[in-house]
Amino acid sequence: MASTNEMLSCPKVALSNGLKIPIFGLGTSHDGGYSHEAVVYALRECGVRHIDTAKRYDCEEHLAKAVQESGVPRRDVWLTTKLWPGDYGYRTTKQACKASCARLGVEYLDLYLMHWPDCMVPGRSNREMRAETWRALEELYDEGMCRAIGVSNFLIPHLEELKEDCSIVPHVNQVEYHPFQQPEEMLQYCHQQGIVFEGYCPLAKGQALSHPTILKIAEKYERTPSQICIRWSIQNGAVTIPKSTKKERILENCKVFEFSLGEEDMACIRRLNSDTKLIHLSSPLWKG
Ligand SMILES: NC(=O)c1ccc[n+]([C@@H]2O[C@H](COP(=O)([O-])OP(=O)(O)OC[C@H]3O[C@@H](n4cnc5c(N)ncnc54)[C@H](OP(=O)(O)O)[C@@H]3O)[C@@H](O)[C@H]2O)c1
Repeated sequence: MASTNEMLSCPKVALSNGLKIPIFGLGTSHDGGYSHEAVVYALRECGVRHIDTAKRYDCEEHLAKAVQESGVPRRDVWLTTKLWPGDYGYRTTKQACKASCARLGVEYLDLYLMHWPDCMVPGRSNREMRAETWRALEELYDEGMCRAIGVSNFLIPHLEELKEDCSIVPHVNQVEYHPFQQPEEMLQYCHQQGIVFEGYCPLAKGQALSHPTILKIAEKYERTPSQICIRWSIQNGAVTIPKSTKKERILENCKVFEFSLGEEDMACIRRLNSDTKLIHLSSPLWKG
């Protein structure tokens, strides 16, 4: 397979603390498998420099091996991992962060996210638990163990409460974002508050790839449906983390920086929004 340096031209988005996160990252997950070879290929051949994972995905140890095997220096790879709600709480958060670092074989994380707003601890309110957990994250940030800290799946009221309860505004909020799920209010809110908006499931888990509008736009630009969806996210300023376990698809997904969608086509995709969420805590689908 031909190699490429597509990602060398990958733009970065500035966080409120001045760090810069590559706008394109490779997603990983336990849902649909994990491919060691594909991650090594993404790093070594495609120039991908941003990987998204989570304790929940159970592949942090595999990633440590893949990053090492790729030969890409640790400092050149942006690593995001997530704290699982089962670990929320001051002491347990600190332990979980250390454990994630150990599994990933790193001394620090580039970004550590609270994976979900709620954790359901008997006798404690979710708000209380979020605040206590966030304070531990703030300390991990101050100590340099996490270069940036953020949240995932938080809604505006969760972010407003956190602002009242704690001192550091999250650097990132990672939420579901694809043509069928466009939380415009959250995008605007993040923009106003200086929170980087990161979108997961940019392909709607593959479901967007057969939509007639996406197919039509793909044909017009002589691109693939996946490239259209990823490009659309990027043009909206969202950090995006498509997942694939297949080398040829990773290469395809990386090739989104030498074309741009016209305003009319951006608007066509905007009209596909049906507020459809693929990830729900209460649903058996939720493997976030
Ligand atoms: N914070 C959260 O709660 C949360 C929740 C969900 C996901 N995430 C993150 O977001 C990442 C992406 O989400 P996701 O994996 O659920 O959805 P996604 O990236 O929208 O879609 C992934 C699916 O699309 C397929 N695919 C990828 N590239 C393709 C291409 N070029 N052509 C055709 N099919 C393609 C993949 O299959 P193959 O692997 O077979 O190629 C996989 O089935 C995850 O890996 C994870 O890091 C975070």
